Amino acid sequence: MAYDIPEIAKNVFSVGSKDPNRKFFDALIRLHKGTSYNAYLIKGNDKVALIDTVNPGFEEEFLCKLVQLIDLEKLDYLIMNHAEPDHATAIPLVIGKSSATLIATEKGAKIAEEYYKVPKERIRAVKEGDSIELGGKTLRFIDAPWLHWPETMFTYLVEDKILFPCDFFGAHNAYDTYDEDAEDLLHDAKSYFAEIMMPFRAMGRKALDKIKDMDIKIIAPSHGPIYKNPQKIIPEYIKWNNGETENKVVIVYASMWGSTEKMVEVIKETLMAEGVKVVPYNLVDADIGEMTKDLVDSRGIVIGSPCVLNSIHPLAVYAVHLIKVLKPPVKYGVFLGSYGWGALAAKQATELLKGTNIELLGAVEVKGRPTKDDNDKVTELGKRLSAKIIGG
Ligand code: FEO
Repeated sequence: MAYDIPEIAKNVFSVGSKDPNRKFFDALIRLHKGTSYNAYLIKGNDKVALIDTVNPGFEEEFLCKLVQLIDLEKLDYLIMNHAEPDHATAIPLVIGKSSATLIATEKGAKIAEEYYKVPKERIRAVKEGDSIELGGKTLRFIDAPWLHWPETMFTYLVEDKILFPCDFFGAHNAYDTYDEDAEDLLHDAKSYFAEIMMPFRAMGRKALDKIKDMDIKIIAPSHGPIYKNPQKIIPEYIKWNNGETENKVVIVYASMWGSTEKMVEVIKETLMAEGVKVVPYNLVDADIGEMTKDLVDSRGIVIGSPCVLNSIHPLAVYAVHLIKVLKPPVKYGVFLGSYGWGALAAKQATELLKGTNIELLGAVEVKGRPTKDDNDKVTELGKRLSAKIIGG
């Protein structure tokens, strides 16, 4: 069977795999369009290089595509931009079937040796600005660590002006090869950014600074569509990595008997009346990928939870923990909760949020159903939150 292999520029082929059946990523984010594991084969006049490989389960398809294009034994270079298994699993196969030299950063070289058992003599570590010549095609390497593992780097094809940034600029989409065909691509890219890149915004800014003066005609990431128009995604990445926030509040809550939910309704109405955009997520059936996407540019957060078994609700613990580890640029937060006999949830939420940059403006915890007085307190807290949100 011959595969249809996109040639994204002359002698530059997209040889990865599409995985429309994948439902979750990192056992965390629900995938609505599956994902792809993009890899690229570049044929120069003299030499051939492969950038990255594929996820477990796609090795056979991958090898078939490679042998459709080249004599695999004669592959010269295998470039490992990133060592995570969704891109590196087929490295041992390719190394075993060819005499290729594996190119990686110094940290990547150690991982290739340790995880993928690549013999030391087959590995070449590269530094920022190093390049290899393929004959009419030059590959230059850009050190871009912690995007999102320590060993990550970008590769730039000088003559064709193509940037291969691996996970950076990625999106989960198994269907569309190019940006121009992909609906809601920025939505999908933002959701991807939230889970994978948001915790590393400082490193993202450094990488963006490195590429800002480069002439980039195509961005070919390792997940999702290839950008023929890089200006579709670069300005968004600048905003997201800078932590630019909007007059927006994400509400994450769990409610057992409706009291917390009632308070959530009151604060939602208050915030909206003050001109703040509000995005509520009932944690019992929230799409975590959507919730984290909304945290990318939210200035505020409302956490709502009853006290159950002397504790903040387990779903709220999960949400607060996610907020802590994903490090969104949220500045202000409030807590709303209800209890039967012990008011402990607000105190625990405050403890859980320690170490973040979120300023907790206050909490309202009520016994049983919220009364008019309680609702008034929620409204007052909502007004304080909206004043901060609108203040910037
Ligand atoms: Fe797509 Fe970090 O691997």
